[in-house]
Amino acid sequence: MKRVLIVFDSKFGNTEQLAREIGAGIQATGTAEASVINIKIVGDQDLSNFDAALFGAPIHAFRATSGIKGAVKKAAKMGLDGKLVAAFDTYQAPGHKGRAAGQIRDLLMKKAKGAKFFSEDLTSLVDGYEGPLNAAEPARAREFGQRFAQELGE
Ligand SMILES: Cc1cc2nc3c(=O)[nH]c(=O)nc-3n(C[C@H](O)[C@H](O)[C@H](O)COP(=O)(O)O)c2cc1C
Repeated sequence: MKRVLIVFDSKFGNTEQLAREIGAGIQATGTAEASVINIKIVGDQDLSNFDAALFGAPIHAFRATSGIKGAVKKAAKMGLDGKLVAAFDTYQAPGHKGRAAGQIRDLLMKKAKGAKFFSEDLTSLVDGYEGPLNAAEPARAREFGQRFAQELGE
């Protein structure tokens, strides 16, 4: 059984919900289990227990939150070599689709050079400043989680 760590930042709960949907998709494969954690406790985790890690945040003022950037740096220092990684985000403005996830991926590529990068990231629309997640997004997130777990293998 593979183990996946899902690290999220979230102000209003939508990115946390997205993280939990990704986790549900991962669990649904039956080949991996997911632990979903807030950025605040990333330093408490023993990363050697995990085969893969996902990092996600809302976009704030054109950028991935500083909280998720700090968590990525911390995790990279603790060791992401050989682990499968990917990014996810939530956004409200159509023009900002995927922007925060792209920044998280760029940071991972810089700080975690030995990681393996999943071929896709997930970017999800919220219908208002405080959410909710757009109705199409939970199912997309579960499917993304399933594909991630399939890539990870058994
Ligand atoms: C301080 C702040 C700045 C924001 N800036 C942007 C932005 O530049 N572009 C955008 O699409 N949404 C922006 N939003 C809306 C967020 O995308 C939305 O609040 C977030 O996706 C909800 O996720 P959460 O519930 O996990 O916090 C901003 C929200 C906050 C609180």
